[in-house]
Amino acid sequence: MDFNELVRRRYSSRSYKPDPVEEDKIRSILEAGRLAPTARNDQPVRVIAVRSKEGLAKLEEAGHIYDAPLAFIVCSDRNKTWTRSYDGMKTTDIDASIVTTHMMYEATDMGLGTLWVCMFKPDVIRKNFGLDDDMIPINILVVGYKDDTTSKNHGVRIPMDEFVRYA
Ligand SMILES: Cc1cc2nc3c(=O)[nH]c(=O)nc-3n(C[C@H](O)[C@H](O)[C@H](O)COP(=O)(O)O)c2cc1C
Repeated sequence: MDFNELVRRRYSSRSYKPDPVEEDKIRSILEAGRLAPTARNDQPVRVIAVRSKEGLAKLEEAGHIYDAPLAFIVCSDRNKTWTRSYDGMKTTDIDASIVTTHMMYEATDMGLGTLWVCMFKPDVIRKNFGLDDDMIPINILVVGYKDDTTSKNHGVRIPMDEFVRYA
């Protein structure tokens, strides 16, 4: 599918069928994430693919995942992240979010629904999934077969002339 068409079709799905996501699709999503660029190619991002009943229940304790059969916890190791020398800015969140975006569009391209979730309790993720102190959970990407057809904000965006300023 043309990339712009893919962008237009994607929306945040908050209702999922119970059908599991096939193994080959999970692998394709992970491969799209693995191939994402990161600052200086430092590759600080690690992903926990949650698909077991127990894992999903542990994840739901941290944040709402809408009964989806699959979710990826996208984490970034702050010790492995590139730091901008001018002001100390670390690309921890940026790297993880590019990985998440790659995964989200690969899932969308395969006809799956997704939801990007940041509203979660990091301390619960840390405890339930045994993360080291330096491993920061940045995003959860919820994935599954959609049981809805749109979202309230699907395509609702500011106009182009507000979005861009040419200089
Ligand atoms: C960084 C980020 C964090 C988000 N966190 C949540 C969340 O915790 N819970 C939720 O329901 N949606 C979350 N969303 C989904 C946004 O609300 C959604 O993308 C936005 O309203 C636009 O709607 P659309 O994705 O359907 O086009 C998040 C999206 C992004 C990009």
